[in-house]
Amino acid sequence: MTGDDPFEESDTGGPSPEGSDPPSVRADGGAAGADDVALDPWGSSSVSDYRKLFEEFGIEEFDELLDRVPNPHYLMRRGVIFGHRDYRPVAEALQNDDPAAVLSGFMPTGDPHIGHKLVFDEIIWHQQQGADAYALIADLEANAARGMTWSEIDEHARNYLLSLLALGFDPEAGELYRQSTNREVQDLAFDLGAEANFSEFQAIYGFDGETDVSHMQSVVTQMADILYPQLEEPKPTVIPVGPDQDPHVRLARDLAERMRYFKVSEAYASFELDPDERDLVADFYESLDPADFDDDSLRCVHVAEAIAETPLEDLDVAADTLGTVVTKLEEAGMEPVRPRTRFFDRRATDDAFDALIDAIDGEKRVYESHIDAFELDVAEAEALAREVEVETGGYGFQPPSSIYHRFMTGLTGGKMSSSIEASHISLLDDPEDGYDKVKSATTGGRETAEKQRELGGKADECPVYELYAYLLAGDDDEFAKRVYDECVGGERLCGDCKEQAAQLMKEFLADHQAKREEVEELLEAADIELESPRRH
Ligand code: TRP
Ligand code: SF4
Repeated sequence: MTGDDPFEESDTGGPSPEGSDPPSVRADGGAAGADDVALDPWGSSSVSDYRKLFEEFGIEEFDELLDRVPNPHYLMRRGVIFGHRDYRPVAEALQNDDPAAVLSGFMPTGDPHIGHKLVFDEIIWHQQQGADAYALIADLEANAARGMTWSEIDEHARNYLLSLLALGFDPEAGELYRQSTNREVQDLAFDLGAEANFSEFQAIYGFDGETDVSHMQSVVTQMADILYPQLEEPKPTVIPVGPDQDPHVRLARDLAERMRYFKVSEAYASFELDPDERDLVADFYESLDPADFDDDSLRCVHVAEAIAETPLEDLDVAADTLGTVVTKLEEAGMEPVRPRTRFFDRRATDDAFDALIDAIDGEKRVYESHIDAFELDVAEAEALAREVEVETGGYGFQPPSSIYHRFMTGLTGGKMSSSIEASHISLLDDPEDGYDKVKSATTGGRETAEKQRELGGKADECPVYELYAYLLAGDDDEFAKRVYDECVGGERLCGDCKEQAAQLMKEFLADHQAKREEVEELLEAADIELESPRRH
């Protein structure tokens, strides 16, 4: 049974026809479709089974973090923002008034619609919570991946920007830019490109021999967009997007890591151990007593002996790991086993390596491509590595975080798509047309009013309920909950419900469009080129 509290995670009954569980939604109508999960940034952006995103792609559930977020936005409270990657550092920074940033980008391929409004709202909310806010127009991507002409791009870009400002983005506190004219983004893209190669693009995006080079360039540009807020200084940065953009987020997180000068890890002796080997040595280090070997310190050979004497079935490790670790330990012979923190030189300049040696306090040992510190824990070492990197000309990037919102269901059922006029509401729609579209929307209602009174409506499968939850109820949780309860309780009938929603939509559009006119001047004054000099 679906729980009737719209803001509680509900375990909905029974498998869906495809045999997969229905997505767990909080009464926001994320209806299960028939399509499989595919995270493809340029493909169809519908996701039928949100649970798979957690299981197969490692996206984490947003709910688990909700109580760490100061003044959570209603999209967070209602489970519309359902997932994240590594959002915790951002939540903490907002909580503590530490530096943080939010950035998202828009491909100007059509009119901004109510799906884009989710992202506008997410950027604006983070800005209001104190984050540095960035919104960019992905004009290079629109041209390269979607073949939009520059005049189309300019027209659409202007419309996105007006809606963003009308909804409350502060262009003086935040930054707006277009990819094509941001020199720093292009320079960063070039640098990041040196850490990525074609095979990787093939594996992530399915690119092949026919893929335009410009399309590939738009990918490194997006990587640079994502890391751009950290050029001034490294800081927790969140990228609010739909889950179709997750491949980009993962690649950006990898590249951020690959750009780092040093890799910090725990170590037990002068030589490198891989993580499984290290865990094994750590266990023996904890349990062995040097006195048992007639010695005053525990040495590599002692650990090698002890490991070799332990039956394999008592060890939680693969046989080949066992072999390699024993060999390494035997080779090191009488070297003492001592825990330490290691700075491995990944791509540091000589200056940076020397600066790090100077910066490490206490006992340290310097090797050709690493430095071992004996009086620093891993967290201290990481902070120090970043500080030295930034001081010696590196970026010191933190891996960017992301939050993911659900896609809205189309008003005609199926997915909301810009190419199906009646399925979506553009922020530029005439308010009367918005009203009409809502009035003709599909609902989760029963065939007859009697049945509806008896069984209640299916708010969880109703695009109209979604409009309330995602937009029309605004910050008013009680109102959204009332609509839900009345619907599933059989007190609300679709005719009246749609009339109310249509009326609210009409008012929203009229109000939004009036605000768009008011912010025209703000946009003219903002630091972003509204016309591209490119014309072909
Ligand atoms: N690829 C995004 C889209 O298709 C647009 C985009 C470009 C973007 N750069 C970005 C999104 C950086 C988030 C962050 O809509
Ligand atoms: Fe949807 Fe409203 Fe009908 Fe419920 S009453 S199914 S929310 S239109």
